[in-house]
Amino acid sequence: MYNRMQFDLITLFPEFFDSPLRYGVVSRALLRGAVTVRTHDLRGYTSDRHQTTDDRPYGGGEGMVMKIEPLYRALADIAGAPERTLRAGAPDPAHVVLLSAQGRLFDQAMARRLAGHRQLVLICGRYEGVDERVAEHLADEEISIGNFVLTGGELAAAVLLDAVARLLPGVLGDAQSALNESFSLPDSSAAAPLDCPHFTRPPEFNGWPVPPVLLQGDHQAIRDWRARAAWDKTRRLRPDLCPASPDE
Ligand code: ADE
Repeated sequence: MYNRMQFDLITLFPEFFDSPLRYGVVSRALLRGAVTVRTHDLRGYTSDRHQTTDDRPYGGGEGMVMKIEPLYRALADIAGAPERTLRAGAPDPAHVVLLSAQGRLFDQAMARRLAGHRQLVLICGRYEGVDERVAEHLADEEISIGNFVLTGGELAAAVLLDAVARLLPGVLGDAQSALNESFSLPDSSAAAPLDCPHFTRPPEFNGWPVPPVLLQGDHQAIRDWRARAAWDKTRRLRPDLCPASPDE
C-alpha cells in the first residue's frame, strides 16, 4: 500500500462531494494528507459552445447517453493516458473505475484491492448511461454499489471513496482498527462474517436490558457470547452469507 492515495472524481457536479468529504474519518484523512481528492468538472473537457456532455442513443430509445470525447480528454489529463492499454505499461498506472448500475458488485474484498492503488480515478455517470466504449476501452473496471439504480454515479463514488479511504495506513486509529469488523475475516475463519452486536450504557433502557453476560467481566464468556450472537444475527439477517448446512 502507498502512504498516500490520490482520488480523482470526474463528475458533472463537483460540489456534490463537498459534504461527504467534510466529516469524520475521511475529513481527518484529508487533513493529514493520507488521502488527496480532486474533483474535475466534465464540462471543462467539452469542446463545443454548449459544453455538451450527452447525446441521444443510437438505435433510438429513452433518455440520453454520456458522450465519450469529454471523458477521453479528462482521462488524458488526469490519468496520464486515456486508454486502458496505454496505461498498462506505466510503472504505477492510475486505476480508472466507471461507476454504473451494470458494474461488478462492490464489496469489502474489492475495497481492500482498490486500496492498493496509488491513484484511483472515479467516473460518475449520469443520464441513462455512458457510451459503452468508455467501459470497453477507457476504464479498468466497472463497479456497482448495489442491485438498485441511482440517479448518478456520484453517490456511488462517495461510498467507494469512503470504504477505501478508511483502509489506508494511518487513517483509522488503533481503537477503530479495521481488522475485527464485518466482512474482514478470511472465508476459512470459524467466526461469523458480520460483526457482533454492541451495547453501551445504560444497562437498561425503557425496560430493554443489555445481555447480562456483557456486564459480568468474564472475558471468555463474553467472547463466546459475541461469537454466537454474531452468527445468530448473520443467520437472521444475512442467510446468504452463511455456509449451507449438509442437508441442504
Ligand atoms: N449509477 C447508477 N446506479 C448505480 C449503482 N447501483 N452503482 C454505481 N453507480 C450507479
